[in-house]
Amino acid sequence: MARPGDLKVEDITVRFSGLTALDRISLAVEAGEVVGIIGPNGAGKTTLFNVICGFVRPESGQITYRGQPLLGLPTHRLIRLGIARTLQGLGLWPSLTVLENVVAGAARRPSFGAALFGGRSSMRMERQLVQEAGELLSELGIAQAASAYPRSLPYGVQKRVSIARALMARPSLLLLDEPASGLSQREVSELAQLVAGVRQTAALAIVDHNVDLVTEVSDRVVVLNFGRVIASGTPQEIRADPNVAEAYLGEPAVAQGDSGDA
Ligand SMILES: Nc1ncnc2c1ncn2[C@@H]1O[C@H](COP(=O)(O)OP(=O)(O)O)[C@@H](O)[C@H]1O
Ligand SMILES: [Mg+2]
Repeated sequence: MARPGDLKVEDITVRFSGLTALDRISLAVEAGEVVGIIGPNGAGKTTLFNVICGFVRPESGQITYRGQPLLGLPTHRLIRLGIARTLQGLGLWPSLTVLENVVAGAARRPSFGAALFGGRSSMRMERQLVQEAGELLSELGIAQAASAYPRSLPYGVQKRVSIARALMARPSLLLLDEPASGLSQREVSELAQLVAGVRQTAALAIVDHNVDLVTEVSDRVVVLNFGRVIASGTPQEIRADPNVAEAYLGEPAVAQGDSGDA
């Protein structure tokens, strides 16, 4: 029996008219685990998340979550299975306040429909969601931004808002795509603390090319290059792996803790 949180990606191949973006990729995320996925630009990291979420159809392979096949399921079904993601961009609604953006994330909650049709008054439910969203914003240290519009806020705050919105769905698995890009050094350390908090309730897969961040927060790291897994292991093993260093040649910012990538 698969445990909650178990994501299994098996032998996935994705081609875009001749270009092999993913070449027989396999990986797993166990319950309670934080798995980091690193690799140079174009390695296939975002494509991997897109396949998991059903945005991109693989040519071959299989993906299951808690034993259930995911391929071919519409995205809203995935969300109901407990999988949430943040996009490489921000994906926030500019005409909604921060609080409203986060409240909207609850629509993706597995129990949302049941609560809606279960006779609970919508006023009461809305009040409760607003309260929960407010609590999430406090936990993420951005309560003061609740009534602001996303575009008026620093990028680092907007990133937290997008994470808060994903968490409103109460996922059991959260996929974060480039959460550290565009963040200052200080915001990156705050992000590491945030991940430590989130992992109390959800497994995480984190794509980023900030190697320092990923090795700090992950239990296991998978390295992609040209659509292939070129290494996987503990953060220590990955840091010591000569193949990984080679894959990053020509990207010296990574070795010193990526600072400028936006
Ligand atoms: N929708 C698409 N159509 C065509 N090529 C794509 C598409 N999405 C990604 N690619 C290509 O697939 C490769 C992997 O891209 P991506 O997964 O975005 O890499 P990463 O997130 O690791 O930077 C790149 O060469 C990219 O140009
Ligand atoms: Mg990407």
